[in-house]
Amino acid sequence: MSRAYNFSAGPSAIPEPVLHRARDALLEWGDERASVIEVSHRGKAFVALVDQLQSSLRALLGVPDDYSVLFVQGGATQQFAQIPMNIAGPDDIGDYLITGHWSRKAHAEAATVARTHVVASGEAANFTTVPDRAQWSLTPGAAYLHVTPNETIQGVEFDDAVDAGATPVVADMSSNILSRPVDVRRFGIIYAGAQKNMGAAGLTLVVMRDDLLARRGRPLPNIFTFAAQAKEKSLLNTPPTFAFYITALVLEWVAAEGGVAEMARRNRAKADMLYAAIDGSNGYYRNPVDVRYRSRMNVPFTLHDAALDEAFLSESKAAGLLALKGHKAVGGMRASLYNAMPLDGVRTLVEFMADFARRHG
Ligand SMILES: Cc1ncc(COP(=O)(O)O)c(C=O)c1O
Repeated sequence: MSRAYNFSAGPSAIPEPVLHRARDALLEWGDERASVIEVSHRGKAFVALVDQLQSSLRALLGVPDDYSVLFVQGGATQQFAQIPMNIAGPDDIGDYLITGHWSRKAHAEAATVARTHVVASGEAANFTTVPDRAQWSLTPGAAYLHVTPNETIQGVEFDDAVDAGATPVVADMSSNILSRPVDVRRFGIIYAGAQKNMGAAGLTLVVMRDDLLARRGRPLPNIFTFAAQAKEKSLLNTPPTFAFYITALVLEWVAAEGGVAEMARRNRAKADMLYAAIDGSNGYYRNPVDVRYRSRMNVPFTLHDAALDEAFLSESKAAGLLALKGHKAVGGMRASLYNAMPLDGVRTLVEFMADFARRHG
């Protein structure tokens, strides 16, 4: 075995015990005498798995009874359009807070199917901070306010307890779902692709308040209609069964490790360790984000001389530290510290960083 510490932004590290179980189930799943990917999604075993996925997710996130939990396809990107199509009528306005690459993209996609308004944007500050709440120009009576509480590329994270009065808040939590406790009641909709903190690519979580589920923005085919997905318990058509299975195992793992409160404690410790190494490097490494909004999940950093980037990447890879290359929009490096990244991985990274700085001056 030569598995290394994987700092990929997504798809990303999966807890190793989950991979061991999945390896076995790939050949034979439980009493099925067949692989988990060979059985019908309408069969008893798989339907029970979907029930388990529902109940585990509800328990971990503390989802209230008047919210539905859906597992759909198309990634978070599909939700950029599907949510406005479902909950905004032709005369409604969807508000957007733009804090980085992904919220900008969510807005651009929504604008193809709905009327939108940007309440504030951090673009002028190169998305290194979040516009102050006092500067947001919320639309009275907006259909919703969309926020991205963790910007995966810029490494900007903010308190997801956004207050928008009576306007339902829609949050893209693709890169920080299950990383800390969330008060679901503060949101109309929470959505997230599974491939970072929750499992394998192919499955997208949508948690939505039932009054929003009942909204009909416009007539849509069933496959795009949340109410139809809910009626069929997320089995409207053939789901990505293996992604469902992996996510069920990841949720079991999170619960067994102590739930989201314990994940939050670990994530804080990991992020603190890495930021301390960056800030204590006398400018050798640098993170540009306003300290109030530094992400615990995705930590972008640059080296004092970009000419060293290639050496940093090849040497870190040789040292067993994978996928540290930053997104091209930001450059430099990025370390993603999702739930499955152990503290030891971060310790190995900061030791490598100190050693690299000593050797390369
Ligand atoms: C915050 C955020 N939103 C949306 C997306 C897009 O997700 P998908 O590729 O699942 O559509 C990503 C992917 O990295 C993301 O980090």
